[in-house]
Amino acid sequence: MSNFELPTPDPEALAHPQPLFKLLREVGPIVELEENDMVIVGGHDDVRHVLSHPDVFSSGVEAVSIGQVRPLLPLQIDPPEHKSYRKLLDPLFAPRRVALLEDQTRGLVRELVAKFVADGPGNFHDALSVPIPTTVFLQILGLPVERRDEFLELKDGIIRPPAQTREERVEMANATGQKIYAVLQEAIDERHEAPRDDLISNFLTAEVDGTRLTDEDVLDICYLFFLAGLDTVTASLDCMVAFLAQHPQQREELVADPSLIPHAIEELLRWETPVPGIVRITTQDTEISGCPVAAGRTVAVMIGSANTDERVWDDPDTVDFHRESNKHIAFGGGAHRCLGSHLARLELRVVLEEWHQAVPSYALPDGHELLYSRDLRSIENLELVW
Ligand code: HEM
Repeated sequence: MSNFELPTPDPEALAHPQPLFKLLREVGPIVELEENDMVIVGGHDDVRHVLSHPDVFSSGVEAVSIGQVRPLLPLQIDPPEHKSYRKLLDPLFAPRRVALLEDQTRGLVRELVAKFVADGPGNFHDALSVPIPTTVFLQILGLPVERRDEFLELKDGIIRPPAQTREERVEMANATGQKIYAVLQEAIDERHEAPRDDLISNFLTAEVDGTRLTDEDVLDICYLFFLAGLDTVTASLDCMVAFLAQHPQQREELVADPSLIPHAIEELLRWETPVPGIVRITTQDTEISGCPVAAGRTVAVMIGSANTDERVWDDPDTVDFHRESNKHIAFGGGAHRCLGSHLARLELRVVLEEWHQAVPSYALPDGHELLYSRDLRSIENLELVW
């Protein structure tokens, strides 16, 4: 969900960012990166402060440029307008609505796990982390699953562009963005002709405070969904299974007692924080824990750091599936808190349940080094043996 870059491309730091986060907090409430005029915030309370004051720390369109021609809805529109969109979207992603997807999701997961076991051992990312969430998501949004590879390539053109410089990234994002708009406009046109039982049709007929969404609104909602829905659960699954492959005792606990899985998911969301940083822009001169921040500064909000801040977490560097309370902010906080969190939790739980039932014991191949991507954490080379 953001284009924030960790300051170092070192593979060890990408795999284990927590020491870097600690360093960040030790430097002070804010760290200024002069070369790109960015302010980094890593303390838990400061991160929460930023996220709960959207009037001062805006997530408006200036904050992140990812090929869009208008603000992404609802992410790049601040309260009070933001509230109308969430009023419309929240019921579609409420726990009760999402629970209806469990049987269908479990059927898909069982089928793909059985295939992976029969074909395996191999790459968990390719066999399960990519196809499961993307199939579920494309089906509910209403885009053709058989065009998944094409859609994933478009999503990666924005989130993980094979470009070196900032200018190249922006150029590639703009070109890819046009293609995403075209795909979505085609889907919208088809629903105007004949509505279906999917989210795009829902958006076209829904009303916000008595007014229908325009085609542009629906396009701007779907553009964000396209990026958020096709990447985050994949990345989270990769991180969680990579951790469990390397921590056999904790994995055995889950195998022995699957009711621990939801707790393990929360703790791994805290520890791994798959979306480590998000971005805001200051609308006025302000301060963060007494440090002045001028209007118009880009603020990188390190939720991964907040999730391991020793000032609020007991034993933050221990991954503990039995934590009494776990108020992590891996799904963000404040008005823009993740809309898809219940769907993500459902998918993660069903995959971890079915996977551990089928393959209770697994590991990385000897000497295999996992390569974590920059920006959003993900591991494409998640090879497993069992
Ligand atoms: C484990 C998986 C996921 C993680 C870790 C995650 C994380 C986040 C975070 C950190 C934010 C806050 C962004 C900000 O404030 O700048 C966010 C917002 C959002 N997420 Fe997720 N997300 C996940 C899954 C999903 C899924 C599956 C969907 C779609 C169905 C989704 C849709 C959204 C939307 C629409 C927003 C913007 C909400 C708003 O602005 O009101 N997310 N997500």
